[in-house]
Amino acid sequence: MESIDWRNLSFGYVRTDYNVRCYNRDGKWGELEIMSSEYIQLHMAATSLHYGQEAFEGLKAFRGKDNRVRVFRLAENAKRMHNTALGIKMAVVPEDLFRRAVLTAIRLNDRFVPPYGTGASLYIRPLLIGTGAEVGVKPASEYLFMVFVTPVGPYFKEGFKPVDIMVCRDYDRAAPLGTGCYKVGGNYAASLMSLEIAHHKGFSTTLYLDPKEKKYIDEAGPANFFGIRNNCYITPSSKSILPSITNMSLQQLAWDMGMQVECRPVPYDELATFEEAGACGTAAVITPIRKIVDPDINRIFEYCSDGKPGPFSTRLYQKLVSIQNGDEPDPYGWIEHPDA
Ligand SMILES: Cc1ncc(COP(=O)(O)O)c(C=O)c1O
Repeated sequence: MESIDWRNLSFGYVRTDYNVRCYNRDGKWGELEIMSSEYIQLHMAATSLHYGQEAFEGLKAFRGKDNRVRVFRLAENAKRMHNTALGIKMAVVPEDLFRRAVLTAIRLNDRFVPPYGTGASLYIRPLLIGTGAEVGVKPASEYLFMVFVTPVGPYFKEGFKPVDIMVCRDYDRAAPLGTGCYKVGGNYAASLMSLEIAHHKGFSTTLYLDPKEKKYIDEAGPANFFGIRNNCYITPSSKSILPSITNMSLQQLAWDMGMQVECRPVPYDELATFEEAGACGTAAVITPIRKIVDPDINRIFEYCSDGKPGPFSTRLYQKLVSIQNGDEPDPYGWIEHPDA
């Protein structure tokens, strides 16, 4: 096998041995197929290509000290893909099919699950697309659900180190009553322009404000946002952000650590009051924020004055990662084992 430098993996695509696929035809799901090809044969009039009938998920598996593989919150990802499918009128993937496909893809690619202690993990990418041909705007009559996996390192190259992010006022990733709460490709297409501008100016990602009034914090690029103040974990609730499973988990952990938890609209000006701020997601895990720069109105919010992640973010990060790696017991039922 080609040797992989596990400790220096970036968040990118690495070819693995197999992917799994399942078609929905005439309203029924077929058998799970195992493929080694990385390609899909697709009709040129498929609705995924023209009308954005495309949904995906992202979850991770981790190898523990005991060499066992642990998948994190598979059922929640299945639920979110279910909601996304309903939101853009696609065939729904039953939880059982989602689970079988994810666990099979991990088992078949076991040699790509990074070793314990390298900081790398196996990223799992379930994908649901309309494959049926339509020329008028309507839902497809045929769908493909597939799962591929790829070993990854940290999303932000800094890892668990504070990053600088930029408030984006010229672009929105989603409309106020649009598809922001679904994991559909269109939201990411809409974010590319602002992301490129942020990167170009030296920022790790963008901070989106609510698209209706620009008065509240929405989310931080491909991650949710949280702030910490007075032993309280504060995170935006908004119709235009993706409900992050990492964020949901951190709220539980914060609560169990004796913190208060508030999930509510977070006014922009509250940024000035936080002791710590962070971005959270499957890929970002917790990425502490050092600075939020708002170039259009010349404002800067600074955290981590000593350049290090704050104590609350650090504790939450360590707790989450320890559960994911199996270093600490999982009292929540968040972990599933592909070998069980
Ligand atoms: C736009 C956006 N927000 C938030 C998240 C974080 O969600 P999760 O914690 O479920 O990965 C992601 C990543 O999936 C995302 O793409």
